[in-house]
Amino acid sequence: MRSFITISSLVSAVLAAEPWLEEPDTGLVNYLASTNYTENSLPLLKDMRAIPDFDWAAEAYLGDQQYAFYRTAAAGEWSYRNNLDIWAKIKFRTRMLNDVSRLNETLPVIFMGYNFSAPIFIAPAARGVYGDERAELNFVDAAASENILYTASIYASKSIEELGAQKHNDTMNGPQVAFQQIYGNSNESVIWEQIARAEAQNAKAFVFTIDAPATSTRHRAARYDTTNANAATGALTWDLYDRIKNRTKLPVIPKGITTVDDALVAIEKGAPAIYISNHGGRQLDHSPSPLEIAHEIYKNAPEVFTKVDVMADSGVRYGTDVLKLLAFGVKMVGMGRPFMFANCYGLEGVTKLIQIMKNEIVSDGAQAGITDLRNVAPKIFNTRALDNTVYLMDDEEIEVKNRVIANTKKH
Ligand SMILES: Cc1cc2nc3c(=O)[nH]c(=O)nc-3n(C[C@H](O)[C@H](O)[C@H](O)COP(=O)(O)O)c2cc1C
Ligand SMILES: *[C@@H]1O[C@H](CO)[C@@H](O)[C@H](O)[C@H]1NC(C)=O
Ligand SMILES: *[C@@H]1O[C@H](CO)[C@@H](O)[C@H](O)[C@H]1NC(C)=O
Ligand SMILES: *[C@@H]1O[C@H](CO)[C@@H](O)[C@H](O)[C@H]1NC(C)=O
Ligand SMILES: *[C@@H]1O[C@H](CO)[C@@H](O)[C@H](O)[C@H]1NC(C)=O
Ligand SMILES: *[C@@H]1O[C@H](CO)[C@@H](O)[C@H](O)[C@H]1NC(C)=O
Ligand SMILES: *[C@@H]1O[C@H](CO)[C@@H](O)[C@H](O)[C@H]1NC(C)=O
Repeated sequence: MRSFITISSLVSAVLAAEPWLEEPDTGLVNYLASTNYTENSLPLLKDMRAIPDFDWAAEAYLGDQQYAFYRTAAAGEWSYRNNLDIWAKIKFRTRMLNDVSRLNETLPVIFMGYNFSAPIFIAPAARGVYGDERAELNFVDAAASENILYTASIYASKSIEELGAQKHNDTMNGPQVAFQQIYGNSNESVIWEQIARAEAQNAKAFVFTIDAPATSTRHRAARYDTTNANAATGALTWDLYDRIKNRTKLPVIPKGITTVDDALVAIEKGAPAIYISNHGGRQLDHSPSPLEIAHEIYKNAPEVFTKVDVMADSGVRYGTDVLKLLAFGVKMVGMGRPFMFANCYGLEGVTKLIQIMKNEIVSDGAQAGITDLRNVAPKIFNTRALDNTVYLMDDEEIEVKNRVIANTKKH
């Protein structure tokens, strides 16, 4: 629930010295004020035009505790803001008069051997029930009808079995392809049990979250005694990764890679894919955004993007954000909060969000003179602002990298 911001308070916010806008101003508030919109209700779905609109709508509609759990981030939330702000550091260098009329045909991707209609996915996020009583069933349905990847959280409101039973048989892959996220646990039997249950429901890969070794500092949610879905873990180590890998024939994808160093360790460990993320800024404040991480990997070890399939999330809200990650070699781009917010509208809202993003990717890509979304040249971006601050490996680290890359075949 939020108080309806009046136009005069918006104007004064704009006049203040460069305020950081919680939500970019898409004109929604102004527009709703001219309609019969009732304070603290869910606006009409037709009025959701931009992905950030769903955040505004969810804040109006949800209870404070529920919204705080979805929206919260770590400490001062500087990483959360950086995730949203950083995209502006990279500007397009569009070459005009490219024939982009067939760009839409290059939206579909093959990821880890499966077909999807677009390089976007639903990231694993806990407690879908806050938005809608069908909770994550809406994610399964929308992912199937829109032919995109769904990665279920182990703390989903619906059980592994309920989500498994909901999967559709008529997707681009035939039976729906979904991944299962898992956490570490001080009682390892819990992990082995979860793996067996997800395998029984035909999960196609595990996403093992490596960025939650302890409780995180989340003040916004702590006010409502609602912090981590996952608070008690055992020791998180690469040894545990090895043991998980040894427990299943399915691919195990480490989620929460934030350095080129760990990307290389993952490759050395035989990870078939890696997942770049700072958990939406929810774990460690001042952890880097996916754009900075992908750029660090690209500058130091571009081979990573050809040795393994790379997924990424955190702060993605526009088609241009996706294009920037694709340019560095990321194959699949996820969103967390936007889907939780869109779920306040149920299946229709989740579906509309996917369609908005697909349309933006193609429209923005065409505006940028991109002719093939599977082959976006880093050159169409001016990355100098990031180049100036990127971490560069020293000689010893480069030697390690060369050894890892030479010893790894493509997975
Ligand atoms: C409400 C919420 C719950 C989440 N729960 C999980 C989880 O259970 N497991 C996990 O690996 N990541 C979890 N995440 C992180 C997401 O997978 C993803 O990394 C993050 O939301 C991406 O940032 P974005 O929200 O800016 O798109 C959660 C995120 C949110 C917002
Ligand atoms: C508000 O207006 C919309 C159309 O703009 C209409 O569908 C809806 O029924 C109206 N609601 C009320 C409470 O008048
Ligand atoms: C791509 O766009 C063209 C022209 O707008 C249209 O004719 C075609 O059906 C579209 N193809 C796909 C796969 O959407
Ligand atoms: C999909 O196919 C399986 C196996 O044939 C079947 O058990 C299941 O009920 C089907 N699911 C749906 C949603 O039709
Ligand atoms: C993916 O699509 C291609 C071409 O449309 C098809 O040949 C292939 O069998 C599909 N793969 C899967 C796993 O469905
Ligand atoms: C560990 O988890 C297993 C599987 O859920 C359970 O049966 C067992 O009781 C747990 N052990 C402890 C010490 O909690
Ligand atoms: C892998 O699993 C096998 C049997 O399940 C076991 O014997 C072996 O010790 C395990 N290896 C590791 C490294 O955990």
